[in-house]
Amino acid sequence: MTSECKILENVCLKGLYRRMVFSAPEIAAKASPGQFVHIQIPELRDRILRRPFSISGYDPEQGTLTVTYKVVGAGTEVLAKLPPGVSCNIMGPQGNGYPMPSAEETPILVAGGYGSAATLPLALRAPGKGFLLLGARSTADLILYEEYEKAGFQVRISTQDGSLGHRGMVTELLDPALAEAEKTPVVYACGPTPMLMALGKMCVERRVRCLLSLDQHMCCGVGACFACVVKMKDSSSPDGWRYSRTCKEGPVYSAEEVYYA
Ligand SMILES: Cc1cc2nc3c(=O)[nH]c(=O)nc-3n(C[C@H](O)[C@H](O)[C@H](O)COP(=O)(O)OP(=O)(O)OC[C@H]3O[C@@H](n4cnc5c(N)ncnc54)[C@H](O)[C@@H]3O)c2cc1C
Ligand code: FES
Repeated sequence: MTSECKILENVCLKGLYRRMVFSAPEIAAKASPGQFVHIQIPELRDRILRRPFSISGYDPEQGTLTVTYKVVGAGTEVLAKLPPGVSCNIMGPQGNGYPMPSAEETPILVAGGYGSAATLPLALRAPGKGFLLLGARSTADLILYEEYEKAGFQVRISTQDGSLGHRGMVTELLDPALAEAEKTPVVYACGPTPMLMALGKMCVERRVRCLLSLDQHMCCGVGACFACVVKMKDSSSPDGWRYSRTCKEGPVYSAEEVYYA
């Protein structure tokens, strides 16, 4: 489904990170946590491809959709300059999304950089509150954690340069959070691929249920081009794996399904 969605707000959150709110009643009515939208950026004449962004907020009553994005290249530079009133053609909601935790589970959200945009809708709607483990290179890439605190989550931070929180990798915060979880822990994650692979392996070893949002580079976004594939375990294949299209079958996969090379 595609729709023309008017920009209501496009503001700087911090440094290179921005929040964009659209009037998108059809998308907001269907969205669920962990899904993404594929945005056609107007005036990007030399590049026709859409750009994928996690849904970082949706409100079916107000008919609004929020994305939180980092300015990294040509598309996001144009996006950053679009004023309220301009419309973008948006495809979505796309992808499978995260299954919601039950009231008997403690959600442990693990996010790297803008990955905290993808897990925020789940934090706001989860019946039981848990932990956000947020990692980044430095404080410049730590965003949205105040929103998790407001939602009742305990926030634990790691930075690789030690500028805030634990110095090191966000995966090093996992075991303490698992030990402190009052109910059955379930891990929900989004972030850079190396972080997700390390986290997925740890959760499989510890027999902890873990859902990984594998955000690969995408082109068509509808399953036609195979630009976005990842390897999943497949015992019926001679190599022990098969490709899966993250835009169509994902982006969320159980850590058990993922093929770790
Ligand atoms: C399912 C999904 C959800 C995403 N959610 C968000 C989000 O919530 N917020 C956000 O800021 N970004 C998100 N991204 C990444 C975002 O799509 C890219 O940053 C964006 O397409 C870059 O467009 P550009 O034209 O500005 O950059 P380009 O000029 O195309 O590229 C600039 C740089 O960004 C890198 N890049 C491009 N796509 C990706 C990607 N998928 N992952 C990592 N690096 C990339 C390129 O390698 C290059 O180094 C998501 C990607 C996917 C697949
Ligand atoms: S982006 Fe084309 S198949 Fe996924």
